[in-house]
Amino acid sequence: MILIKMGGSVISDKGKYKKFREETVRRIAGVLPKEKLLLVHGGGSFGHVLAHKYRIREGYEKWKILGFSEIGRDMEELNLKILKILIEEKIPAVSIPPHALFIMGDEPNMDIFHFIVDLNFVPLTFGDIIFHRSKGIEICSGDYLMLHLAREFKPEKTIFLTDVDGIYDKDPGEPGAKLISVLERNVEPETSTKVKDVTGGIAYKIEIMRKIARYSKVYVLNGFHPERVKKVLDGEETIGTVII
Ligand code: IPE
Repeated sequence: MILIKMGGSVISDKGKYKKFREETVRRIAGVLPKEKLLLVHGGGSFGHVLAHKYRIREGYEKWKILGFSEIGRDMEELNLKILKILIEEKIPAVSIPPHALFIMGDEPNMDIFHFIVDLNFVPLTFGDIIFHRSKGIEICSGDYLMLHLAREFKPEKTIFLTDVDGIYDKDPGEPGAKLISVLERNVEPETSTKVKDVTGGIAYKIEIMRKIARYSKVYVLNGFHPERVKKVLDGEETIGTVII
């Protein structure tokens, strides 16, 4: 089993509201296996822009509810764009919107994933709006879903596609930043970043990746270079970070 997240900064231009990167997604889809695959995608500018504007992570207030619906609509729009490309590339993907699957605060029920994987489908889930037991409303990040899927399926390889070559020792935008090619999950990484998004930024993502590394070999790769994904899938060396 292979578990892959297409990060929001790869599939969309994070600076421009709802700017989809169709060709990038198509190129990625072209190297993916057609079975034994679990797919997750992030929100990018389809999710984060409005999630920030409506302060969704601070929980329910009545004035936010239309904004919450708008984010759900935008995420489904993004999901449909990706789903169409996957199907064109002959990947039998089926969409699983988290907000209809579980209420946050409860353990997500992963039964549907197992059921459809056994039928050779490829589940496609995504960072989404979600209802929350105590906060009322919340954002469910794709990374949270990655953790649950990794725990459940213990995939051989878990791949995070980002807009940089992997994990760096400092913000990749800073001069002198070095790519960390191997990161041990038990060692606190020397990374720092000022980049924050509504679901916690890179520090939260690295924490999740280190947890996932208990169950799976974790790779952080540049999504604009799908040939690197192919190499990892084929067991070859390439540019990126592996967390062991
Ligand atoms: C965010 O999901 C979803 C919404 C804001 C609705 P992620 O947090 O997984 O998205 P990216 O990959 O960081 O953009």
